[in-house]
Amino acid sequence: MANDSGDDVPLVEARDLAVRYPNGELALYNVSFTIKAPSFTAVIGPNGSGKSTLMKTILGLIHPTRGTVSVMGYDVVRESKEIRKLVRYVPQRDHIELSIPMRVKDIVLMGRLLKKPAPRFASSMDKKAAKEALARVNMLELWDRPFPELSGGQRQRVLVARALASSGPLLILDEPLAGTDAESQKLIVNALSDYQKNNNVSVIMVTHDLNPIHVLVQNVLLLRNTLLGVGTPCDVMDTELIKQVYGPTAQIVEHSGHKYCITHDSGVDRHD
Ligand SMILES: Nc1ncnc2c1ncn2[C@@H]1O[C@H](COP(=O)(O)OP(=O)(O)OP(=O)(O)O)[C@@H](O)[C@H]1O
Ligand SMILES: [Mg+2]
Repeated sequence: MANDSGDDVPLVEARDLAVRYPNGELALYNVSFTIKAPSFTAVIGPNGSGKSTLMKTILGLIHPTRGTVSVMGYDVVRESKEIRKLVRYVPQRDHIELSIPMRVKDIVLMGRLLKKPAPRFASSMDKKAAKEALARVNMLELWDRPFPELSGGQRQRVLVARALASSGPLLILDEPLAGTDAESQKLIVNALSDYQKNNNVSVIMVTHDLNPIHVLVQNVLLLRNTLLGVGTPCDVMDTELIKQVYGPTAQIVEHSGHKYCITHDSGVDRHD
């Protein structure tokens, strides 16, 4: 049960979390952190470092092998029904099912309908919210288009719109900027930023590049299958830490008051 001490309940709390896949792969171990609401958190780390696994565990899609995770005091395993109400999710791009011939409007409306009790029909309110969300990412003109026919960047924007149209105080986005051009990145980041500020929601975003979101982020979790860094973007932009995670060629460079993280994995990440 969620404890009801109001504001003191953390948004997300992980305690000694470990996740091992059935094939024996230990994706996460010894992961403990607390995120308070409202906040914008970035999750960074190289390929295979357990970022998506952590997001799926917070969503209750994967069960911990050890330890616990809670969202607003609700245990993600035992209280999965509550978790579905609290969290909205944009999955990593390569994991999106494209064989289902849905239209853009169906995808965005799904964000609302999945949180309603059956029978699930879209009301005029649902349609209005779906259209508003698509307009936020400049995709309204694609309302009737088949989703699989869109470009990767357009699909990504539609999925962000689906999350914006949905409800729940926590948005989890797994690399929503991957494979998108500078304009799409700007649209997605601005839409998320406006939405977060105006609706008192929290965001956890997996990203390979802190640069487009560095001004929005209060917390960074740096993963390499365990939590190697946690703190503000400035705290985590530490040379020793970055080398430990991305290897000896990674470095922090300061230029014109900005900190840049250069890694062979993610290119250049900057933080002021
Ligand atoms: N379904 C699965 N079954 C077995 N092992 C898995 C599964 N999913 C992920 N893994 C393994 O768990 C580890 C963490 O994977 P995960 O997808 O969480 O990493 P990631 O940080 O999201 O990587 P990327 O940056 O490539 O998205 C990897 O070693 C991966 O091979
Ligand atoms: Mg991933």
